[in-house]
Amino acid sequence: MNYTDEEICTQYGDRPKDNRGAVSPPIYQTSLFTFDTFEAFTHAQLYERENYVYTRGVNPTTELLEEKLALLERGEKCKCFGSGMGAISSVFFSLLKSGDHVLFVNNIYGPTQQLLEHLQNFNIEHSFSNGDVESDIKPHTKLIYVESPGTMLMKVVDLRKISTIAKKHGIYTAIDNTWATPIFQKPITLGFDLSIHSLTKYIGGHSDVVGGAVVGTHELIDRIFTYGFQLNGSVLSPQDASLIIRGLRTLPLRMKQHQDNCLRVIQYLTTKEEVLKINHPSQWKGGAFSFIDDQMTGYSGLLSIELKEGGFKKVAAFINQLSIFKIGVSWGGYESLVNSPIKENNELELIEQGIGTGIIRFSIGLEGSDLVIADLEKGFQALHSIKS
Ligand SMILES: Cc1ncc(COP(=O)(O)O)c(C=O)c1O
Repeated sequence: MNYTDEEICTQYGDRPKDNRGAVSPPIYQTSLFTFDTFEAFTHAQLYERENYVYTRGVNPTTELLEEKLALLERGEKCKCFGSGMGAISSVFFSLLKSGDHVLFVNNIYGPTQQLLEHLQNFNIEHSFSNGDVESDIKPHTKLIYVESPGTMLMKVVDLRKISTIAKKHGIYTAIDNTWATPIFQKPITLGFDLSIHSLTKYIGGHSDVVGGAVVGTHELIDRIFTYGFQLNGSVLSPQDASLIIRGLRTLPLRMKQHQDNCLRVIQYLTTKEEVLKINHPSQWKGGAFSFIDDQMTGYSGLLSIELKEGGFKKVAAFINQLSIFKIGVSWGGYESLVNSPIKENNELELIEQGIGTGIIRFSIGLEGSDLVIADLEKGFQALHSIKS
């Protein structure tokens, strides 16, 4: 059956008839499930991934969220986790063994890279693609792991091309799809095996919950269930699953609004002479980027800018003037947030990574673009009183 994204996010799976008419499904806040007979109990335990036995397994509240996310991504099955990193690590723990190699494509979230550095201790190698993915594949490459868009420079890569190359070589593909959400990008329809999310960002949407998810085929998610989830133990609590289900109900609406607000902010930023570069996929059209329209149907509200005159003092002066934008990690919530990777002593390190010293990242929230733009204007004014 073909459901629209709006239907999946709102009513799909709610089953009021099974819940005394309750329009909002109950939260199964329980650690375990009991049985009438010992035979029924032992039978359920034989195949725990299909039965309610223990919440570090399958729980009906979390399962509803998983059904919705699998459908949204057009995948067969989903498993949710206690965090995005729980979801990401489950993929590596389940699919890789000693002697395997992971090829990273595009800029990758720092802690994901750190995890692979740690896995070197278990003889699992990784390297970064220089752009020509096919020539970067090694004989022992088992997984191509992608972020597109990335979340600092928002760079994008051609997902259909990568999945075609991977299939030719019999290599798994996984993508961190947190930036776009399944509302704007469905990597499984572009040939990817696994789509991963930090639910902490847009999908939760209210900055009150931490969670993660992996969507893929029955076969892969079943493998992930045992080794990446049950034995690793990164469980999403039923209360948090229910908060994320509530977040999902407005996800399509919120994403449209984040996009509209962000595009208005970008329009304003293009008028500022202090800005060297605006990093957001909406800015890259045609030519080498002609694949974007095929793989994305919209843009979220996470962008960064590069100031013409960078350095810690300038960046700090800009950020300290903001009041609508709160200073903090994470992104994708209702509130506008500002952050920068620059610290007092890491300018050289940033330059080596291809990141300028005037980089500032904004998560454009839902406060209204006029308010947000007025806030940014205060930041730009502050730049003129600081010597670099
Ligand atoms: C792109 C991306 N992926 C994954 C994660 C990790 O998610 P979590 O913080 O929910 O573990 C983050 C967190 O900031 C992120 O930005």
